[in-house]
Amino acid sequence: MKIIVIGTGYVGLPHAAVLSEYGHEVHAYDIDATRIAAYQSGDADSIERYVNEPGLADIVAENLGRYLFFTTDINGIVEGTDVFFLCINTPPNRDGSTDMSYYLDAIHHLGGLLGQRQNQQRVVLVNKSTVPIGTARLLESVMREHGVENFGVASNPEFLAQGNAVEGSRRPDRIVIGADTAEDMQILRRLYSQFVNHVRIRYLETTPETAEAIKYVSNTLLLTYISFWNGVGARLAEAMPNIRMEDLKVGVTADARISTWGSYVSNGAGGSCFGKDIQSLIYQLNRAGRKTDILQAVYNINEYQKTYLIDRAIHEAHFNFNQKTVAVLGLSFKKRTNDMRDSAALGVVGALLSRGVRAIRAYDPLAMDEARRSWFNPDKNHLFERISYHETAVEAIDGTDALYISTDWEEFRGLARTIQATARPPYLVMDGRRMLPDFDMLVSAGYDYLPVGGPLLHGWPASDAPYRENGSTAAPIAELRHVPA
Ligand code: UGA
Repeated sequence: MKIIVIGTGYVGLPHAAVLSEYGHEVHAYDIDATRIAAYQSGDADSIERYVNEPGLADIVAENLGRYLFFTTDINGIVEGTDVFFLCINTPPNRDGSTDMSYYLDAIHHLGGLLGQRQNQQRVVLVNKSTVPIGTARLLESVMREHGVENFGVASNPEFLAQGNAVEGSRRPDRIVIGADTAEDMQILRRLYSQFVNHVRIRYLETTPETAEAIKYVSNTLLLTYISFWNGVGARLAEAMPNIRMEDLKVGVTADARISTWGSYVSNGAGGSCFGKDIQSLIYQLNRAGRKTDILQAVYNINEYQKTYLIDRAIHEAHFNFNQKTVAVLGLSFKKRTNDMRDSAALGVVGALLSRGVRAIRAYDPLAMDEARRSWFNPDKNHLFERISYHETAVEAIDGTDALYISTDWEEFRGLARTIQATARPPYLVMDGRRMLPDFDMLVSAGYDYLPVGGPLLHGWPASDAPYRENGSTAAPIAELRHVPA
């Protein structure tokens, strides 16, 4: 089949690459010429600068020029196309609604081209990126405006998690197709023939609106589950004596109906999807005049979670951040990605700066360029000059008064020894991911340990901790209230 994928980010590129593996003729189109040039080069480093997914660059290189083509110009190739996938970014607006401007530009452009087609074979236009419920219908009306004939619209949401895109595309747990006619269902069944009637993959055909809703309900349910563990499990183990977080997890998730995924308590779930999607669903339901209490609570718990260890450090460990130097380890929103969108580290850094720290020493195995490039740009806020970037965790820890672990990178599991070798007590370790299995060793050597999902463990005699000098904690600096986070 001839397929055009419009938009080549985290959704579009893996989708195009994996479809090309199955022998379809796939053209991936983007308006960003430097991005397209990077993909056309077939060079792994260049591709990974845009989409860093294990195994993806190899698939691109293997199929390039045979089944997979990249272009910034689709004018000449729309004829004879069976399916268009719309994989355009739909970022959030401030009020939680979705910024549809890129999407609208793209579909109007596409409508203009399809309205001029010579070959009037059936064509299906499929929304793949997460878009508000009703967008397939909007797509349909825009195509009609342009006089497009013999077309169908469909919703086929993407359920991949970052870092697992290739594996997830090859072995999805479900394919959800929302379309209006049997003819369009049939075209998409041909496209996904390897998954139809598969023993382990649920192939679901439904209405476009249901498919759109499935994506929002899935993501908000997953975030609800994470927030349940963060807001209930972790809180209990922090507030009451002698509750072991790991045992609590094992005991509860032994029930086959309850998953272990999501029970890893954290300093909040980030990424480009959960926060955006729950805000969008709240917005959509409010507009329909419905209450959204549970969604609002989940969203609030998750946002609060991103900086609350800093509050605990102040109120429980009586740590005075004013003029202190703090290492922040882990900047990406989860391990195995350089993506910092909505990452807890952004909230942590903002909170530390607003508490008057002298310096922040940052380290991440993959996201250093990302951090330097976009988020911690001193032009945005002069206090970002207090952030320095380091090549290793040891280098970042050196000369600090405290450290904060924000991402679940595996290499942080060995940090207890690194800390002992690099920093002297009194020293506060804030662990937003429960990454230190041998925290006991640290505490008995005199370090204070403050984990999410556990009580503060004092290594240094509580009354003597010299890091409390200067009396009460510094007030937040007003100008930092709007640090992008
Ligand atoms: C998420 C969903 O998991 C995908 O199913 C969905 O397709 C995708 O959004 C999307 O809408 O495109 P992703 O954002 O890549 O995928 O990341 P996740 O692996 O779900 O992690 C999200 C956040 O939750 C991360 O910050 C992670 O560290 C955190 N998390 C995850 C926890 O705090 N605890 C856990 O137990 C699991």
